[in-house]
Amino acid sequence: MKKKFLATLLTVSMAATMLVGCGSDDDAKENDKQQETQKEDSDDSKGDGLITIGFAQVGHESDWRTASTKSCQDVFSKDNGYDLQFVDCDNDPAVQLEAVRNFIEQDVDYIIIDPIVANGWDTVLTECEDAGIPVIVIDRTIEDSDKYVSWVGSNFKTEGLAAGEWLKAYIKEKNISEVNALVIEGSKGASATIGRTDGFKEIADREGWKILDSQDGDFTQDGGQEIMESYIKSYEGKFNVVICQNDNEAFGAMDAMKAAGIKYGVDGDVILVSFDACTAGLERVMSGEINADFECNPLAAPFVEEVIKKLQNNETPEKEVYMEEHWFVKEDIIPSIEVNGESQDMTVVTQEIIDAQY
Ligand code: AHR
Repeated sequence: MKKKFLATLLTVSMAATMLVGCGSDDDAKENDKQQETQKEDSDDSKGDGLITIGFAQVGHESDWRTASTKSCQDVFSKDNGYDLQFVDCDNDPAVQLEAVRNFIEQDVDYIIIDPIVANGWDTVLTECEDAGIPVIVIDRTIEDSDKYVSWVGSNFKTEGLAAGEWLKAYIKEKNISEVNALVIEGSKGASATIGRTDGFKEIADREGWKILDSQDGDFTQDGGQEIMESYIKSYEGKFNVVICQNDNEAFGAMDAMKAAGIKYGVDGDVILVSFDACTAGLERVMSGEINADFECNPLAAPFVEEVIKKLQNNETPEKEVYMEEHWFVKEDIIPSIEVNGESQDMTVVTQEIIDAQY
């Protein structure tokens, strides 16, 4: 960044000098003053002591994403000693690769990537490695390369398995004998989508449940609504479970079901399951509209900062850091479920929990 900025400055100075040759004395003095100020600015940015970080964020598709971006911007602020270059890649993998390459060109100290898709990373991560810039991956995983220092995020397959195990316990409690499920997946190729889909499907296959359809809602409210509307056209009266892979999709699915007169949630005919558990999602759990919400914790930035501090001290950070997550319900009928051989409590949502959530 600084190298490029100085090169730009040089070009601007040269152009200014040429212009001075054609102008008045006053213009020349004004130009000198401007160049002096630019030089001072450039000296400041050189010696500011800030750690420069490039962050290639997925986009702005969901409440979860907003919380993730805010977490990074809060932690990596100027006051905390960082200069954060933030790029919203608008869910476009090509834009994200370009953002990373620009960070390399800017010679930032660290690069943070939340990978839109799990594959297609090895070449650009090799370029980061060659440039000597450590990469920290957050949230979603990279499957085709290990050329990053650390990853901080969630186990998406565990989230999907948890949703399945909870559903199994829930239908038993409610004497529901059949599951005919519709799944609204997240974005294609994202590890969050792959993990949640695989985890839930594993339980569905084991229990002999029917997954009537499973389509991509792109982790957005509009996507969730659109897919749900088309599901209603094809499967009205034939489904009793809807699995939305994030809260925003669930909000869209609710709008579609409401418009079609379908009752969902704890007092409804359709069991609605969601992931993320951001504030608005938890409010819908508390109101009984979402039966269960499996948290995906977006507050990775403090852990990323720990990784950076270790690297600054020439220590080796952990390769994988898992976020702590809770599973939320309204009804206090299933105290805990077992996933991957470990028991975890189900948390009954309270106003206090909602007020403290992101
Ligand atoms: O990668 C995390 C997922 O991406 C969240 O579940 C979703 O809300 C986001 O868009």
